[in-house]
Amino acid sequence: LISDPFVHTLLEWYPHNKRDLPWRNTNNPYIIWLSEIILQQTRVAQGLPYFEKFLENFPNVEDLANSSEEMVMRLWQGLGYYSRARNLHRCAQDIRDFHSGIFPDSYQSLLQLKGIGSYTAAAIASFAFNEPVAVVDGNVFRVLARYFGIATDIASNTGKKEFEALANAIIPKDKPAEFNQAIMEFGALQCVPKNPNCDQCPMKAGCFAFNNDLVHSLPVKIKK
Ligand code: ADE
Repeated sequence: LISDPFVHTLLEWYPHNKRDLPWRNTNNPYIIWLSEIILQQTRVAQGLPYFEKFLENFPNVEDLANSSEEMVMRLWQGLGYYSRARNLHRCAQDIRDFHSGIFPDSYQSLLQLKGIGSYTAAAIASFAFNEPVAVVDGNVFRVLARYFGIATDIASNTGKKEFEALANAIIPKDKPAEFNQAIMEFGALQCVPKNPNCDQCPMKAGCFAFNNDLVHSLPVKIKK
């Protein structure tokens, strides 16, 4: 497969370079869900204290469901995008009331829940249940656009579909969680938006953007 060097290099890079983040040491879908909702539109350094505060106050999904909305909103204070907190609370109540307090365990069933879109469903399904479904966030768009030389607008629906299809075609079926964490981490640490250090990048030999001087032109994002 053409993607083999990409996948192989990525999975070799990850264990030597990853940050030690608390939500990576668990298969608990509640903890993974909580971390992913907090980290949407939020940097790791900013989200970490909120993640710890929420887990301390609500060790499991039923504790969160049984809390008052006022308490949830108070703990969320300062993080912004407050609809995330309201959806978090409602989703916890739906899991308590309609799923016996047990997280749904497939991508398709997770997608039905409040505040859970394709990114979050893929994160929970892969990290907690090892389902081979690719996460596609801003980091993943950037890494794939540059390495494979894809100039489709990432803000368009066709672009989103194209990148999702590519990611799902190359995700290794035996290591979906590792692959998803690795590609996000590679985008966060190595293949960064501005002035990436391509000279010391382990992917440069196969990177279309690097080899065609397009690193600063990819990904393409057309403002709406
Ligand atoms: N940002 C969003 N999800 C993340 C994760 N699982 N690890 C690190 N950063 C993230």
